Order: sequence, then structure tokens, then C-alpha cells
Amino acid sequence: HGVDYLLDRRHLWIRSERQHAILRIRHTVINAVRDFFNSRGFILADTPIFTPAACEGTTTLFPVSYFDHGTAYLTQSGQLYNEANAMALGRVYCFGPTFRAEKSKTRRHLTEFWMVEPEMAYATLDDAIELAESLISSVVARALDERVRELDTLERNRGPLEGVCTPFPRITYDQAVQILNDHGLPFQHGDDFGGPAETLLAEQFDRPVAVHRFPASAKAFYMKPDPDHAELSLSVDILAPEGYGEIVGGGQRLDDLDLLLQRITEHDLPQEAFEWYLDLRRYGSVPHAGFGMGIERVVAWICGLDHVRETIPYPRMLYRLTP
Ligand code: 4AD
Ligand code: MG
Repeated sequence: HGVDYLLDRRHLWIRSERQHAILRIRHTVINAVRDFFNSRGFILADTPIFTPAACEGTTTLFPVSYFDHGTAYLTQSGQLYNEANAMALGRVYCFGPTFRAEKSKTRRHLTEFWMVEPEMAYATLDDAIELAESLISSVVARALDERVRELDTLERNRGPLEGVCTPFPRITYDQAVQILNDHGLPFQHGDDFGGPAETLLAEQFDRPVAVHRFPASAKAFYMKPDPDHAELSLSVDILAPEGYGEIVGGGQRLDDLDLLLQRITEHDLPQEAFEWYLDLRRYGSVPHAGFGMGIERVVAWICGLDHVRETIPYPRMLYRLTP
């Protein structure tokens, strides 16, 4: 049967051997993520799903009618609340459903997905990269340890996964653009990477690669500029090998009140909705950093799947809301 037929009968599809294997691996990945943070002193602090403002740009918001307040949005990221929680508790994480009104039909995008987001007070971009590479390698190790049978059912070549260990290679955005140019891929300096660029970059390495210091203009309003190059941001994307693209996005946060106000204006965001977030700077801030990791993309990569829609029991996509 074709995928559409099977997705319409998802309650039956998930009874098949292949889907069992994938959902068991998802279970192990999530357990590994929780154990990783819980064993390193991170406090789980849940962040809200109804939010008044955009965290990741205004083009992928899902509006919801919220009583007398008018429009609320489904969360695109718990980060802004994580920052408040980190100022209170030091090292925190949230893990929950995340929503993006992605109008694109790609094999990497869902409209509802699960993201784990750690945030650390007194931390830099480098600290965030180190934490992400330890997280990714421990999740992969756990899947290899507990789910060999399932990986065999999926006919997953375990070789590439067995090579995943820290440290990951790190390249700057500028070096990444150089690689794309050398390979003749048309690319406009200053843009964010698309799927083909991510795949080509990842192919140069035998394990996930951290691309850091994107132009500030390509990234969200909350990124701290590089003190040595004001046009660059202290940001990082981690790209998975074998064409799976970005699995982690994050960086160091802007802790300067005036610059944050300026960015909110530049990004055309409503300042009222961010007053509480601005207060985190008004009342005194410290360097802090964190990231988000998408569970479905990690599971798709570990399982070696063509599309993230098989990694979650009931996928939500542009053209699919049922079952
Ligand atoms: O890079 P993103 O947009 O980062 C953030 O949301 C930050 N606020 C996180 C943070 O710093 N706390 O998203 C993070 C990750 C991506 O790398 C990807 O793995 C996943 O979330 N992701 C998606 N997964 C499936 N479908 C989508 N539409 C996704 N959009 C992002
Ligand atoms: Mg990103």
C-alpha cells in the first residue's frame, strides 16, 4: 500500500513490524534524552503552549482565539520561558509539543513536533555546542545499545551511527559557504541553509557537524552578536549526516537590554508581548545559552527513514489532520 493509504489507517499501520521498531526506538530516544538531562542536574521546567508572542518568526504561527485577550499562538519554542526559568534555577530543560505552520511539504517538516530545549545560566555558545554533542552521542549510543533488533528490522546500516562520538567537527558559517561554493552549489551569502545545502555540508564529515556564527540577519531576534564581528551571531546549527539536515538549533542569548529592544523593533515584533522577557534584562542578566533538538528528526536519522512522518504515531502535516 502507498503511504497515504497507510496514514489514513494509521491505527492499523502502527501494528506492523516496521512501525513497532520505529516507535520503540522513539521511546528509547526520549528516555535517553530525559536521563541525559536529569543525570546532569538540569531541572525539568515546563513552558506554556498558549503564548502571546512569536519566538521563531511570525510566518509560522498558529493563531488560537483566546477569550478576551484576542489572539494567542501555539508555542513555536519554549526558549523565552526557559530563559526565565534558567535565571531562577540555573540549568533547566523543557520537553513538549511544538507547533509551526510550515507551508512547505518537505520530508523534514511537521506542523506539530516534539522538541527538547535545555537552557543554561552562565553559559556561552561553546558550552551549548559541547552540551549538544554530548546529548546527541549519548542518545545514539543508547539506541545502539538497546535497539539492535529494531535497527535490524529497519535494515539500518549501523556503521555510520557507531562512528558518532565527541567532539563533532565545527565550522563557521563562512567556511560552510566556502564549501558550498567549492562544490558549485548556488548560494547567496547571508541566507540560511536549505535542505540541499545542509545535505552537501554534512556529506563532508563522518559525524554530525556544528555550523556556528551565522549572519545575525539570517537568525532570530534573540541571538547575541559575536563581540568580534557585530554582523555575526553566536548561533549554531548541528547537521546530521546522511541527508537528515538540521537536528539542533541554538546559541548564546542577547543579554543587553538596549540591543534587544532594537532587535524587537527591527523584526517588527510587538514590544508589549515581550515586556516580561525584556524584564529578564532590566532586572539584571547573566550570559546564558541553550538549544532545541527536534525528536522526530533525530529518530528519522537514527532509523534511516525517508520522512519524519513515520517517527510519530499521528503525524500532523500541511495536508493531514486525521486520524
Ligand atoms: O532551530 P529551531 O527553530 O530553534 C528554536 O526553536 C530555538 N528557539 C531553540 C532553542 O534555542 N531553545 O528549532 C530547533 C529544532 C530544529 O533543529 C529541528 O530539529 C526541529 O527543532 N524542528 C522541526 N522538526 C520537525 N518539524 C519542523 N517543522 C521543525 N522545525 C524545527
Ligand atoms: Mg533552526
